[in-house]
Amino acid sequence: MSLITSSDRFAIFGARGMAGSAISRALERSSYYQQLKPSRQDLDLLDPLAVQQWFAEEQPTVVVLAAAKVGGIHANVTYPADFLLQNLKIQTNVIETAWRSGVRRLLFLGSSCIYPKFADQPIKEEALLTGALEPTNEWYAIAKIAGIKLCDALRQQHGFDAISLMPTNLYGPGDHYHPMNSHVLPALIRRFHEATKCNAPSVTCWGSGTPKREFLHVDDLGEACVFALKYWKPVENGLTYLNVGTGFDLTIRELAEAVASATGFTGTIKWDTNKPDGTPKKQLDVSAFSKLGWKAKTSLADGLASTVALFQELQED
Ligand SMILES: NC(=O)c1ccc[n+]([C@@H]2O[C@H](COP(=O)([O-])OP(=O)(O)OC[C@H]3O[C@@H](n4cnc5c(N)ncnc54)[C@H](OP(=O)(O)O)[C@@H]3O)[C@@H](O)[C@H]2O)c1
Repeated sequence: MSLITSSDRFAIFGARGMAGSAISRALERSSYYQQLKPSRQDLDLLDPLAVQQWFAEEQPTVVVLAAAKVGGIHANVTYPADFLLQNLKIQTNVIETAWRSGVRRLLFLGSSCIYPKFADQPIKEEALLTGALEPTNEWYAIAKIAGIKLCDALRQQHGFDAISLMPTNLYGPGDHYHPMNSHVLPALIRRFHEATKCNAPSVTCWGSGTPKREFLHVDDLGEACVFALKYWKPVENGLTYLNVGTGFDLTIRELAEAVASATGFTGTIKWDTNKPDGTPKKQLDVSAFSKLGWKAKTSLADGLASTVALFQELQED
């Protein structure tokens, strides 16, 4: 039986972002139309009083927290205090106020960076807090871990029905294609698209191409969130956060070849092995979420084709 209904009032924080907008679309596809989607201009989640007032006025019954200060390695290393403080404030303001306001269910989005740098692969949920974090994003990761633990603590002490999902790398509509600050997949799409447009004979990618990574289409994440809100009720003393991914990874070399093919690039791909590779493999163990009955639907080939088409459309506008 579904734990949410069409008469619920959904508050989606971060609904203009990549993950939040996909969750909103997925809720709509499942006929959950009562959605409150305040922008940062409507409601700055860093302001506790504004958050409390908003909840008192709008009375949501289900909350999705997909707002966060998000950024790449460069931003994390340059602004550690902003990443730690802003994320702690946003999530504490929203989660505590949701609980105090009588919200029925809350979904908090974390990230795979919460796990130790040298966790066994594929990474199980139980690896949390068993080792040191990746230093370049530990500020962000520590805030996210505090968010998961706050959900857990409120459930234990007050019975607040808060759950968390930890998605792997996302791609798809709403992604960020900034030339310096984007993640590997959007960066490759931009690079190969530009090379194709100017008939460049080759594209040079960073590293050896051998590290393996996992990618989830953001619309699959949206479906996973709706599924979790509908059906996942953590058992007593069980996990309150679950990994979400495809269960499938590929090398960066295979990824670059797939992006080259999707963008129509026919030149040579070169590898600059003087550039760092990062960790050799990063894959989430998604068996716990799969056991609940959810599986990602979008193949990488289909997801890449639609994402590249959307990116190319945006470039022409
Ligand atoms: N993208 C990925 O690959 C990925 C992977 C795993 C997990 N996640 C998780 O998914 C969540 C969302 O990430 P995303 O990729 O969707 O990021 P995003 O596209 O940057 O969206 C973040 C959203 O948060 C909003 N926000 C930030 N600070 C705010 C504030 N003070 N008040 C109100 N709104 C604020 C932003 O509003 P503005 O647009 O106004 O700035 C934006 O809409 C994060 O928790 C992230 O850890 C993402």
